[in-house]
Order: sequence, then C-alpha cells, then structure tokens
Amino acid sequence: MEKKIVFASHNENKVREVREMLSPLGITVLSLSDLGLKQTAEETADTFEGNSLIKAKDIAARCEIAVLSDDSGLSIEALDGFPGVHSARFMEGHSYVEKNKAILERLSGVSNRKAAFITAMTYISADRKIEKTFIGKDEGHILTAFPAGKQNGFGYDPIFFSDALSKSYGEATEEEKNAVSHRGRALRKVVAYLRSENDGTDTGNR
Ligand code: IMP
Repeated sequence: MEKKIVFASHNENKVREVREMLSPLGITVLSLSDLGLKQTAEETADTFEGNSLIKAKDIAARCEIAVLSDDSGLSIEALDGFPGVHSARFMEGHSYVEKNKAILERLSGVSNRKAAFITAMTYISADRKIEKTFIGKDEGHILTAFPAGKQNGFGYDPIFFSDALSKSYGEATEEEKNAVSHRGRALRKVVAYLRSENDGTDTGNR
C-alpha cells in the first residue's frame, strides 16, 4: 500500500527538504495545501516538543493520513533558553538584522555565549496509535558582533557559530548547514525510525 504523510508546515522549503529525505523510503510527502488544510493551532507550550505535538495533533484531527510536524528555535544558555519557543515571535515586525543585534546587545559583556539550535519533530501514524517526538540539536555559541558582509541562511543564522561546522551558519552553504543542523539531525532520526518501522525492526528508541 502506498504510504503518505502530511508535513504540518506552511514552509514550502521545509516540505521540499522532508520530501527529498522520505521519498527514497517510498513515502509520499504532502503539504498542508495539498490537503486543503491550514495550521490553526496556537503554539501555547513552553517547549519545542510541546508545540510540535500541538501542531501534529491539530492536523491529525483533520485528516486520515500520517502526520509529521516540527518546531524549532535558538536557545541561549545565559538567557535561560531565550528566545527559545519565542524565536519566531521575538520583536515581531522587526527585521532579523534588528533581532540579531538586540540579542547581541542582551549578551553584551556576558562571557557564557553557549547556544544551540533545537528542533522537535513529531510523527503520528495513520492509525493514530504511534506518537513519537524526535529531537535534533546543534550546539555552538553566539558571536560577539554582528558579522560584516553577505550572510547565507535566514533568521538567527548570522550570529550562531556551530561547533560542528567550525563556522557560523551565515558562512555555511545550505548543504553544509543541513549536514549538522538541528532540523537535519531531527529529520534523520525520523527517517531512521520510519525505515526501521518499514522493515519491522523498530527498537522503540526515541
Ligand atoms: P520554526 O519552528 O522552524 O518555524 O522556527 C521558528 C523560528 O526559529 C524561526 O522563525 C527562526 O526565527 C528560528 N529558527 C529556526 N530554525 C532556524 C535556523 O535554521 N536558522 C535560523 N533561525 C532559525
């Protein structure tokens, strides 16, 4: 039987990324617009896992196929995890250059610059019996100044230095970033799980 999964996001770039990773498993990835659905749930949880689950359940209640959702953000240790689940809403209406500079301002004089990008991805099976959340994390630190020159990526990429890459996300190519990023890591865990489920070797690992 053909396997279908809907990715509960309006971001077409993410849908494309998920489609590329899941199509080798024989899974057809549909977008919300393919199903004529809109994400209506409010992200009221204070964790990425919580919000990812809210999004997945919202869509699962309104369709009959398997669902995958995600929630991500930047977590800065010295700011108690801020902006965290508020990453998208922080200083709404302002540009990311302004947002990034505001974060650098908050960290001015702070020596602990540790930070991580985190993604939670939730999978809900078509029969709604399986509900699993996978976490992807990429650790690093926040730069001390806004970098000069053209930056790749989006959002908080210019100010995040990835330990795994030994360079900032703003300096990385899309391919380099995907190889280590929070989203890439979470998605590879989902792929490993679905592959094991496909061939009956699920170990139940998170
Ligand atoms: P989402 O849950 O993936 O939509 O991410 C929420 C917010 O976190 C985004 O609007 C960005 O502000 C931030 N964010 C998530 N992933 C990244 C990334 O890879 N680079 C930069 N910012 C990100």
